[in-house]
Amino acid sequence: MASYRITLLAGDGIGPEITAIAVKLLERVAQQFNFQLDFDHQPVGGDAIEKFGEPLPASTLAACKASDAVLLAAIGAPKYDNLPRQQRPESGLLALRAGLDLFANLRPVAIVPALIDASSLRPEVISGVDLLVVRELTGGIYFGQPKGRVQLENGEERGFNTMTYSSSEVDRIAKVAFDLARQRRGVLCSVDKANVLDVSQLWRDRVNEMAGAYPDVNLSHMYVDNAAMQLVRQPRQFDVLLTSNLFGDILSDEAAMLTGSIGMLPSASLGSSGPGLFEPVHGSAPDIAGQDLANPLAMVLSAAMMLRIGLKQDAAALALENAVSAVLEQGFRTGDLMADGCTKLACSAMGEELLRALA
Ligand code: IPM
Ligand code: MN
Repeated sequence: MASYRITLLAGDGIGPEITAIAVKLLERVAQQFNFQLDFDHQPVGGDAIEKFGEPLPASTLAACKASDAVLLAAIGAPKYDNLPRQQRPESGLLALRAGLDLFANLRPVAIVPALIDASSLRPEVISGVDLLVVRELTGGIYFGQPKGRVQLENGEERGFNTMTYSSSEVDRIAKVAFDLARQRRGVLCSVDKANVLDVSQLWRDRVNEMAGAYPDVNLSHMYVDNAAMQLVRQPRQFDVLLTSNLFGDILSDEAAMLTGSIGMLPSASLGSSGPGLFEPVHGSAPDIAGQDLANPLAMVLSAAMMLRIGLKQDAAALALENAVSAVLEQGFRTGDLMADGCTKLACSAMGEELLRALA
């Protein structure tokens, strides 16, 4: 029987609640599809700051590296907002991405027909939207050097970061995007700010060069400001969006809201070898933490992405995804998605319905 080691990073806020549900469902599908999962809980973010005094202890990173896949729920809490940057929960996540060399972040956004009215956009604008943001995750302005804050002689302080990409960094993320576009509808839009930024001109040149190897992919380029507008104007035009780290961070939040709830969206972060990291796009939602109110569906869909991409257990992945669709079609909703005529469920009760849908 195939067996896999999964590192679970429940993290902060609603993280533990939604992780508990994902674990129950994963155990059930493993049983149904005849493979074994060994779970190893490790601290990250605020949880790790409490236990180890740092957001990514070496033991957590080592456990992740030794596993077949990593499933992360959420990190961050307001109480850490005033810590120096390096000690904050978010730095743990960035260090994890860098430590596992997870340069490719995949964020699929598809409209679930049962939730079409949950969006703040009109149904005719969003129906049929099915796009994928491919975000570069270990470079760009998030990691570029030099960066910092300096005191100037005139008494001012200056803060600075550097947006850098090398040709090989662009090439490897562009290849991921071209390959995925080929598996989807064959349409790739590369996002940049080449009218202003040198780093974007390099990005565009490298992407154009790679296009020669993908004559079957329809490539276009779009400035990031226009892309932000087009995403709400006519989102169906997009299939795969290729972005740098910062642009993808911003555009993927925007794209997420096409669905009406960021509580629905999973993501995968992948390197060229080694385990991938799978996590919901939403954060730790400290305002509702510990109250059994969270929407666990993005976490469950992230677990499904882990099964499909990380473990190649496609049938089990599909079973989880079908369970999510089934509960939504039956009208079950957590508070974030509540609509007239639907049944409002607590987080744990949603977990029970998902288990029932699997059976
Ligand atoms: C995300 C988050 C992170 C990011 C933060 C928490 C560091 O916003 O995964 O999109 O900016 O990448
Ligand atoms: Mn973000």
